[in-house]
Amino acid sequence: MPPASRTRRDWATARPWKPLIEEGQDTLTAHAWVGVRGMPARGGQPDLPLEEFARATAYMARAAGGDWKDPDARMLHEIEEEIEDRLESLREGKEAKK
Ligand code: HEM
Repeated sequence: MPPASRTRRDWATARPWKPLIEEGQDTLTAHAWVGVRGMPARGGQPDLPLEEFARATAYMARAAGGDWKDPDARMLHEIEEEIEDRLESLREGKEAKK
């Protein structure tokens, strides 16, 4: 996430969010949670609960024009399943490179 001095509009427009929103709430939240390119896992905060991370992601998507709701138990479960899938494919990718 950008430094606090940047405005909400900066980060909502810095990267095109439309394709990110189209990935779906469970997928995007899971990928960001695990870490993607310059994005550290859990936003760099290892003790951050998934629910709070998922709420922050929903907030970012809403600010960028999406209609994501704060995650309920069912959505959290779907995110957890996506996290498992993502970790699995990252592990496979790493093994393939050895
Ligand atoms: C709770 C805190 C945070 C949340 C909810 C959050 C959420 C997200 C989401 C949803 C994305 C889009 C992921 C994708 O492209 O699939 C993203 C991207 C990114 N985030 Fe965060 N983030 C957080 C904290 C941070 C922090 C602390 C940093 C930097 C130290 C950071 C750096 C980045 C970068 C560089 C990207 C772009 C990744 C890329 O596409 O190359 N984020 N973040």
